[in-house]
Amino acid sequence: MSSPPFQSAFEHLNEHEPREGPSRLARDRLEIIGEGSFGRVYAYVEYPWSASAYKVCIYPDTVANLLHEAKIYDELRMFTIDNDPSAFICPMVKQLHKPPQDQRLEATIDPIPDPAMDIFPHPTLQVSRVPALPVVLQQHYHRLFVSANAQNQAPTIRLLGLYLGMQFPEKINEFPQEFICDLPLDYYRYACLRETFQCLLPPVECIAQGMGRLLARMHWGVGIDARGVKLVLGNRFVGDELMCQCWVLDFNQVGGSDPHHADLQCHRWLVYRPLEDLRLDKLTDGMYKDDDLVSGAKRLALIISRQEFYYPRPHQTQLYWAFKNAYMREVQSLLQRPITPPDLFLTENLAGAKRWAPVITQAALAFFQELEADDDEKCRFYRSAMCEGYPADW
Ligand SMILES: Nc1ncnc2c1ncn2[C@@H]1O[C@H](COP(=O)(O)OP(=O)(O)O)[C@@H](O)[C@H]1O
Ligand SMILES: [Mg+2]
Repeated sequence: MSSPPFQSAFEHLNEHEPREGPSRLARDRLEIIGEGSFGRVYAYVEYPWSASAYKVCIYPDTVANLLHEAKIYDELRMFTIDNDPSAFICPMVKQLHKPPQDQRLEATIDPIPDPAMDIFPHPTLQVSRVPALPVVLQQHYHRLFVSANAQNQAPTIRLLGLYLGMQFPEKINEFPQEFICDLPLDYYRYACLRETFQCLLPPVECIAQGMGRLLARMHWGVGIDARGVKLVLGNRFVGDELMCQCWVLDFNQVGGSDPHHADLQCHRWLVYRPLEDLRLDKLTDGMYKDDDLVSGAKRLALIISRQEFYYPRPHQTQLYWAFKNAYMREVQSLLQRPITPPDLFLTENLAGAKRWAPVITQAALAFFQELEADDDEKCRFYRSAMCEGYPADW
């Protein structure tokens, strides 16, 4: 068996002692910059950019999940090193902090961890921090989309969720739990912001293309079903300047399994590094192991269609075509091009590639057929529901 064509940076990380542990931090210099159902994310206040974000698991017993998340971050990063300004990029994994075996773990963590602890009290993933959006853009978002009486409760905006496949009400009137972070940027809001910040924001069709390329890389490059993955708008330094940048975050639902948290269990849908193992007879894996590529791809479509509202919907014709074309082109280029480093497709793998390439293309098309059929059904349902007197924006 030949050696892997690239060496993952993360494969060596666990061998090292913590280099930049949060133990050196004073408690008052940590702030919560985000929170989800699985982790609470901290950063040092004095480094607003280019520093680390620490995702501390809310549950104590989640090292396996977090390790898997770290691997996915690391693998996807290999596929998202891209100079296109509308490309989605992935933060870099720095370290996984595991609490010592004998440490007593609390079921929940304090809002701000105690710095007397040697490390964060629960398993923690340290990744590079996505820089927050420029303040002028944050303020403009507030002015345009947060109603006057909700301005006081509005959370600090750091990143915005890129929900191109959803339409939110024009103004946010209240902030329920899911709005703790990443306020939504739908197609309409993006267009409004871009009127004022054209030099900072790429055209929305380019974002849709970036989503297509990213999803193809997640599905076929890394082999994950993209469940629970977040797409956000943040910032990035280009030379000395800050530019808006699309980022991809949060992989705890796409990999790993934890016997204590069945709801967090989820698997890759393809074997590890599928494109390097095209000599195999079967590429599907995990929960998809009884599927062939086409039936598996249809299941992926239902995940996107029913629970991931970042991606354009088939009825958003122009945006959807940009997304779909970019996805299909990316699948072809993943199959054909020698990407960096040059010999991703090893010569001995060519026979396998010849056999699998048409099946993978067919499965990618089946993914879109299913997405379109599901969207069509939803549109018909909403139309008939509206006829029966539901409000138009239901
Ligand atoms: N690397 C990062 N840089 C900046 N903010 C981040 C980073 N990772 C996560 N966040 C923020 O924290 C929030 C929760 O993180 P996430 O990984 O999505 O947790 P969960 O799996 O619990 O949903 C994100 O929505 C985002 O706002
Ligand atoms: Mg998550």
